[in-house]
Amino acid sequence: MAKVPTSRIDRLLSSMGYGSRAEMARMAKAGGITLDGADLTDVSQRIPLTPDLPARLSIDGAPLDPLPGLVILLHKPLGMTCSHKEEGPLVHDLLPKRWRARDPAISTVGRLDKQTSGLLLLTDDGDLLHRIISPRRHIRKTYRARLARPLKGTEAATFASGTLMLEGEEKPLAPADLTVISETEALLTVTEGRYHQVRRMFAATGNHVEALHRESLGGLTLPADLAPGKWTLLDAAGIASIFTGEGGN
Ligand code: URA
Repeated sequence: MAKVPTSRIDRLLSSMGYGSRAEMARMAKAGGITLDGADLTDVSQRIPLTPDLPARLSIDGAPLDPLPGLVILLHKPLGMTCSHKEEGPLVHDLLPKRWRARDPAISTVGRLDKQTSGLLLLTDDGDLLHRIISPRRHIRKTYRARLARPLKGTEAATFASGTLMLEGEEKPLAPADLTVISETEALLTVTEGRYHQVRRMFAATGNHVEALHRESLGGLTLPADLAPGKWTLLDAAGIASIFTGEGGN
């Protein structure tokens, strides 16, 4: 069985954004930290990082935040950006403020454009992040697109061909699957994550995407009851379902 890692309590809390190690020592002295209901005064002691720790350790009367290794499923609203380099409000602003100071940092798993809504994952687990975005894994992403012009009827064959070249690129796109919903609405499933890929694919067929929403990623679907701007944490089964039905190895 794998050995459970341990951490000094002050170091753990500091890396989770609660404050400096000195601040953690002061908070403990003032009775602000409890373990299993009893005041914890020595924050230099090591503690096993077991999954039940957030329920056992309380900070200022509230349960400890999720431990490192968290995976967040966010319903990204329109108008928020994934990258700190872009202008405008950030998806990170939707998470508790303290989490911005977490180390390892929480990053988006790939990106959605500012004007794309839908399922977005964020995590502090770098290995997991790379497994999800690795082109070798061919994780399926399904987008609902509303189009400016009626579909011609040839788009599904074009997208499935594996020969479509996007402007300025040298490698054709992998085959993608189009399901027509109406003359101006379709679901498109892609296994790559190229820049503005869906918008550029429809542009290559002479159309224009007016609205774009990601409905699913791998075996995960955006929960119908998760409103825009809201998020939930994935458990181990949820994380595993990202990789269900993947086309690659
Ligand atoms: N394709 C796009 O064009 N935009 C996104 O946000 C995601 C996929």
